[in-house]
Amino acid sequence: MEGKMRQHLLQMLIENGDTFVSGQQISDELNCSRTAIWKHITELRKEGYVIEAVQRKGYRIVSSPDRVTEHEISARLKSDVLGKNIVYEESVKSTQEIAQKLSYEQKPEGTLVVADEQTGGRGRLGRPWQSPKGTGIWMSLILRPEIPLQKTPQLTLLAAVSVTKAIYKVTGLHAEIKWPNDILINGKKTVGILTELQAESDRVHAVIIGIGLNVNVTVEDFNEDVRKIATSLKIESGNETKRADLIAAILEEIEVLYREYLNKGFGLIKLLWEGYAHSIGRRIKVRTASQQLEGVAKGITDEGILLLEDDNGKVHSIYSADIEI
Ligand code: BTN
Repeated sequence: MEGKMRQHLLQMLIENGDTFVSGQQISDELNCSRTAIWKHITELRKEGYVIEAVQRKGYRIVSSPDRVTEHEISARLKSDVLGKNIVYEESVKSTQEIAQKLSYEQKPEGTLVVADEQTGGRGRLGRPWQSPKGTGIWMSLILRPEIPLQKTPQLTLLAAVSVTKAIYKVTGLHAEIKWPNDILINGKKTVGILTELQAESDRVHAVIIGIGLNVNVTVEDFNEDVRKIATSLKIESGNETKRADLIAAILEEIEVLYREYLNKGFGLIKLLWEGYAHSIGRRIKVRTASQQLEGVAKGITDEGILLLEDDNGKVHSIYSADIEI
């Protein structure tokens, strides 16, 4: 109850931005006394919020801590379904693991697992994913689309487009997508997406979309090897970004495109994806489980599969691979 009230108060303050919210307005909406409001303001200050209190004007937030708790995200979120159920953990091995478990427990579509730190973050192809504390977005989203199994790769592309759009909206940075699921800024990896499935042969139970986004990570946070190939929004823009702002923006973008996808199919997402794609029309090297190929990336199919034309003019369909540019 206390927590709910504080959440509501925080939401009012965040929504009003620079404008003061009067004590009267707050006590009417929260149905509580001035003393109770003051108690919540004191608690919020302890959590790191700088809140200005001016007589006869009321309260406003001057600055908020860069946290990814349920409160911080919910207060900014305008989506209808995605992120309505948020599970926040300070430190976990992998949000992907927790989301898998929650999904088995029938948690609803749109459930989001977020952590401030991952100690065993997983990347594609069994690789580790560095997820230092307090610097990035490490989150996993549960979706339950009623689509055939072979169409699920489309959701990775949908997520990549959404994250790219949200990064631009929040930071003004132009990112590009490298098939299937890397997002690059100035040629270096900033975001990785890992899509995992819970399915039977003919039925998808859940698609778990794991997003790792280097937000305020500094060069020193990356180990030597990763430093050469990875970057962060802070390194590229010089500015810190509030992670909760970006998480809310990502969920809103995914929600819009996911709705479009379920209603009208992959068409628009394919177009958007191709617009952001880094590799299309370029010469690339592709390493699949069975072979290595070189050629020009021609585009993606309606299923989200990459088409590669080799030097003999033969077009290969690439389902899953590592790409060098
Ligand atoms: C890749 O590029 O290899 C994909 C990286 C995916 C990392 C994210 S971070 C949140 C979620 N939890 C994990 O353990 N992995 C994904």
